[in-house]
Amino acid sequence: RFNDANPPPPLSMKDAMDLWIENILVLYGDKKPRDTVPVAEGEVSDLVGGPFFLALHRCFKEYGPIYKLAFGPKVFIVVNDPVVCRHILRERSILYDKGVLSEILEPIMGKGLIPADYETWKTRRRAIVPGFHSAWLEFMTGMFGYCTAGLADKLDALIDASDADAPVVEMETEYSSLALDIIGKAIFNYDFKSTQTESPVIKAVYRTLREAEYRSTFLLPYWKFEPLNWIVPRQRQFRRDMKLINDTLRKLINEAQHGKQSTELDDLKRRDYENVSDPSMLRFLVDLRGESTTNKQLRDDLMTMLIAGHETTAAVLTWATYELVQQPDLYARVRAEVDAVMGDRQTPPTFDDVKALDLTRRVLAEALRLYPEPPLLIRRLLADDTLPGGEVGKPTSLKRGTDVFICVYSLHRSPSLWEEPDRFDPDRWLKPHSNAGVEGWAGYTPPSKGKGAGLYPNEVNADFAFMPFGGGSRKCVGDQFAMLESTVAFATLMRRFDFSLACAPEAVGIDTGATIHTKGGMPIQVRKRGDRADLSDASAKLSK
Ligand code: HEM
Repeated sequence: RFNDANPPPPLSMKDAMDLWIENILVLYGDKKPRDTVPVAEGEVSDLVGGPFFLALHRCFKEYGPIYKLAFGPKVFIVVNDPVVCRHILRERSILYDKGVLSEILEPIMGKGLIPADYETWKTRRRAIVPGFHSAWLEFMTGMFGYCTAGLADKLDALIDASDADAPVVEMETEYSSLALDIIGKAIFNYDFKSTQTESPVIKAVYRTLREAEYRSTFLLPYWKFEPLNWIVPRQRQFRRDMKLINDTLRKLINEAQHGKQSTELDDLKRRDYENVSDPSMLRFLVDLRGESTTNKQLRDDLMTMLIAGHETTAAVLTWATYELVQQPDLYARVRAEVDAVMGDRQTPPTFDDVKALDLTRRVLAEALRLYPEPPLLIRRLLADDTLPGGEVGKPTSLKRGTDVFICVYSLHRSPSLWEEPDRFDPDRWLKPHSNAGVEGWAGYTPPSKGKGAGLYPNEVNADFAFMPFGGGSRKCVGDQFAMLESTVAFATLMRRFDFSLACAPEAVGIDTGATIHTKGGMPIQVRKRGDRADLSDASAKLSK
């Protein structure tokens, strides 16, 4: 009964109260539950004090692909089943909004795509998606290379200045700075130069990111109580940071508006980016004819993309490096591939190089399987719904107002869907995998074949068993951007340096936020690679 033109109405306080009462009667009284979903009892204390998604993964192992978490009268349904995820994200996406996530992110992202209400989201998504057109992405590929070359030069200089044969560099921080430089240039043509220097704006961006992460794992939104924002030091700092970032964005938006050149979408898509002074997404959104949006909305769009596209990509690079340096044979194959494709050219990898970097791309996809960013998707049901059976085989009926967690981390490590699920094995993407007993799940095909064919594995060719960018109407708008960026950055660094872990792998540890972080950084010993000898060695290895 609901569709794009007629979305379900927002929840009222009465809906929430009705649901709470029903939950109390079912959990603590003798009302018969509507479903047979197990309740993860006695686990709540385990949920605090460590990464939340790891606690959920422990519950998954005990209770299976769908279970409930109860916090007093508040109940969350946790799902880890491809058929159910497909239903929520693609088939019935209109019935689910971002729920508690919107409440948490709204003070930071305003009405940006992630927290936006349905009407705003529909209009802004239509404007933003064309911004990621192929000519722009191809031009950006070059920009990714130039930004990574900046980091590579910095590593070179560190090695030259060091007495040690291979200095230790904390690479998680370096990847984070690189991703910040890239997203700043791409989205609003701003050079953070964070791989080279530290500035008050960079510090404010980082603190705001931490605050966004903190809020997304803190289920009690005390910051909504205005007086506390003036008392709690953390919230006072947050206000100062937001002011600095907003002032910077306002200046950039005003400059872009000042030079506005109203242009048809098709002409924008055909722009000769090599000769455009400002190739940013902001410029595109300002110039797009027929899009008369406010500066406040532009600010929200930019802020959302800055946050959504920064730490996520940095995390992919971090975990891909972490896994690769622990598998010498695989690492040698990746090096052989980048050497063969890039040779000793001084220029950055091109779009065609990315197409040829088959193993490198699978390494990055595999990093996203084991370390999905974010590890958890959050939804709230806006109308009664029935989830399909999937692995459990029985449908589950849910009441309007139910909060849902999709634990992508567990989905990506489910033994029903993946052979040796915890093993880092990029070659798994070469083999088709058929239905492993999950009703209604098609299995996955190699990324380049069949439905959803493309350069990278995705939720379509894995039929929602792999969905690092979500799926359906709220799927990430920056998926291709992010994968191209990671491939170019990773290949450039692999070509120029030898990395090895400077501590025991267990010492790196896992921490959480909106993305999966290391506990205290990833110390890597960095050596320059020899050129010619390595190259011939590479070709030999590749031809084996
Ligand atoms: C949404 C992951 C990079 C912008 C999402 C979602 C996921 C995701 C899982 C869906 C969230 C949900 O359904 O609740 C990632 C990962 C990235 C990445 C793993 C890097 C490896 C980027 C980049 C940008 C971006 C580079 C922008 C340049 C967005 C936006 C949304 C989004 C705007 C909201 C889309 C909507 O609701 O319509 N991302 N993302 N992301 N992402 Fe990304």
